[in-house]
Amino acid sequence: MKKVSLEDKNFRIFIESAKIQEAIDAVSFKINNDYAKSNPIFICVLNGSFMFASDLIKRFNHDCEVTFLKVASYEGTQSTGSIKELIGINESISDRHVIIVEDIVDTGATLEAVVNELELLGPKSIKVSTLLYKPLAYKRTIPIDYAAIEVGNEFLVGYGLDYNGLGRNLEEIYIIEE
Ligand code: IMP
Ligand code: MG
Repeated sequence: MKKVSLEDKNFRIFIESAKIQEAIDAVSFKINNDYAKSNPIFICVLNGSFMFASDLIKRFNHDCEVTFLKVASYEGTQSTGSIKELIGINESISDRHVIIVEDIVDTGATLEAVVNELELLGPKSIKVSTLLYKPLAYKRTIPIDYAAIEVGNEFLVGYGLDYNGLGRNLEEIYIIEE
């Protein structure tokens, strides 16, 4: 059983790399079907989505554009619920089909802030893709269109997700050991 320690916390393996890739194959299949002719713009929410964004977008086989947005709402292992940073995009998304790329949707506060901000820019549509989705924690109404993996309320790290900045480089996803 693979284990890692990050600062004061211990984690054990939860989702193997091959399982992550299979789950991404499944969502990419849907996105490829849904956006074959619409030249979507993927808006990746940094920092956490960088690995998922890379694996997802390289499976997209049609015209698309890619850009990044930065947000932070987490401190330690708890969502602070308030958005601390929102560094906007420069590309025009007016009249464009937008696909948000998230690492994880927890309470949905971050996602809602991002969607509200993007809607002001007049996109033709906005859909949401996320590697991980915590349906039991989700408190918003924005549909989660493309969730690769649904999980419980546990705190996870790896594959882009961090604990106090650490663990993003792990190829697998790890779960906290209480
Ligand atoms: P929300 O705003 O509560 O949905 O939280 C979303 C953000 O919190 C994500 O984009 C992550 O950056 C972070 N986050 C939520 N759950 C976890 C977790 O289990 N591990 C690491 N980061 C998380
Ligand atoms: Mg995030």
